[in-house]
Amino acid sequence: TARTPFIAGNWKMNLDHLQSIAFVQKLAWTLRDAKLDTKAVEVAVFPPFTDLRSVQTLVGSDDLPIAFGGQDLSRFDSGAYTGEISGAFLKGLDCRYVLIGHSERREYHGETDADCAEKVAAAIRHGLIPVLCVGETAEDLERHGASAIPVKQLREALGPVQRGQELVVAYEPVWAIGSGQPATPQQAQDVAVTLRGELAELLGDETGAATRILYGGSVKSSNIASFMREPDIDGALVGGASLQLDEFASIVQFQK
Ligand code: G3H
Repeated sequence: TARTPFIAGNWKMNLDHLQSIAFVQKLAWTLRDAKLDTKAVEVAVFPPFTDLRSVQTLVGSDDLPIAFGGQDLSRFDSGAYTGEISGAFLKGLDCRYVLIGHSERREYHGETDADCAEKVAAAIRHGLIPVLCVGETAEDLERHGASAIPVKQLREALGPVQRGQELVVAYEPVWAIGSGQPATPQQAQDVAVTLRGELAELLGDETGAATRILYGGSVKSSNIASFMREPDIDGALVGGASLQLDEFASIVQFQK
């Protein structure tokens, strides 16, 4: 199964509204001028909720094919949930994807695997493609090795998922996020192959083979190619480097 490489930029709570608009517009122009082959790589950005409408207006057209999504969503569909953003709202803004279970949500908002499972189900109910983030902390790594925690997170969050469901998995070792210390491509590949085996077990061989697995954690233009060479790594979830136009544009064009 051919898996289209996927490069995603998670802006987190960076860039103010005007910066977001300028950034996504310049990114779109840069990729258009570079004649990016969108069959060879899919690009997505994950702005704050408040910038989704602007991003939709700027890159929603066919000649500027940049997908986008929310950084989180509510596990509820609608109602008295002050401050929450439902999958329906995201879908209504043409989001294609939604991040679920990013380590920062787990760390600062106490999100559990059970919460992630509910959010995955909510995303699917609303026709969004979940990008499930998994990864071990430095302490987990020392105690349990690299894959035990990501495997547990994957299993628990994908409980409600049916075979054949499109989803994306982002393997982000917490110790590599924002640290300037990426995993080695081999370390990332080892976990990716384990996760792919789990996906096959949970959702069938076909879904296991079709699901894109991204690596995230200190990805830069200088190391992206080394990750993309690994057979089970299909892309990257980029944080810091997704906020710099030249960097992100070169990461997207990793084949050049
Ligand atoms: O979602 C993105 C990750 O948390 C990676 O962040 O590229 O700044 O290490 P980073």
